Amino acid sequence: MDLGLKDKRFLIGGGSRGLGNAIAQVLVDEGAHVLLMSRDGASLEKAAADIGPAASWVAVDIASPGAVETLQTAVDDKLGGLDGMLINAGGPPPGEVLGVTDEQWAQSFELLIGGPIRILRALTPKIEGEGSVLFITSSSVRQPIPNLDTSNVLRPGVAAMAKVLARELGPKIRVNSLAPGRFDTDRVRTLDKGRAEAQGITVEQQVAQMNKQIPLGRYGEPMEMGRIGAFLLSPAASYLSGISVQADGAMVTAIP
Ligand SMILES: NC(=O)c1ccc[n+]([C@@H]2O[C@H](COP(=O)([O-])OP(=O)(O)OC[C@H]3O[C@@H](n4cnc5c(N)ncnc54)[C@H](OP(=O)(O)O)[C@@H]3O)[C@@H](O)[C@H]2O)c1
Repeated sequence: MDLGLKDKRFLIGGGSRGLGNAIAQVLVDEGAHVLLMSRDGASLEKAAADIGPAASWVAVDIASPGAVETLQTAVDDKLGGLDGMLINAGGPPPGEVLGVTDEQWAQSFELLIGGPIRILRALTPKIEGEGSVLFITSSSVRQPIPNLDTSNVLRPGVAAMAKVLARELGPKIRVNSLAPGRFDTDRVRTLDKGRAEAQGITVEQQVAQMNKQIPLGRYGEPMEMGRIGAFLLSPAASYLSGISVQADGAMVTAIP
């Protein structure tokens, strides 16, 4: 199947590592150009070099109001236009509803909702033809994750925003979201370390416990997400909009 990605141009949030980086890699393998966006310039430079000449980068904090101007200039200068965006960054902090501070709640909102709205407002007008926007959310949009209440509360709002935007930006722009379960990335390794410490067990024991809750018996590899994300962003997914795809090895027990 031809995904129709040749010479298409994408802004890729969280592009320096993990799930965003894997989606960027597959897009480039399929002939697209990507502009990687995250905070640390040195990691971005390395990630872009690893992906190859079709990758460029811009260092911004997605939660910062100043990000928009930098991104507009970078999209014009480095991509010369836009066909789609992956809205993605790091996850919000762990904790329970009443234990998370007001400041952490406000920062989590800016990371997951406020920053993405500003970026979409500024950049969707740059999509001239048919385009697509993809949000990375979490399995928490269907089933709360213990001790990750910033995600449990705010991610369902992101999924709702994607659904509403599919109506508001259609028919020109398709909008979908992609809800990962457990993929082997820095983010999940950090969370697993905290969970293992809290229970007084090793990280390996924590991972083994989790694997028992995943019918496919293992964490996903980032490139498995890369292929799904690249497909959803591609013209080959031309009649998919307003959906949330669960990529979790059947971990979530709720009926889809
Ligand atoms: N991996 C999973 O199984 C899983 C499961 C559920 C949900 N998720 C969610 O999926 C998203 C991606 O996860 P991941 O596992 O790929 O995470 P990751 O490996 O930690 O990568 C996060 C990426 O986002 C960038 N980033 C972090 N904060 C940012 C900010 N404020 N502004 C711009 N860029 C930022 C990071 O680079 P810098 O630090 O240099 O900015 C990095 O490129 C996260 O929101 C995560 O919560 C992942």
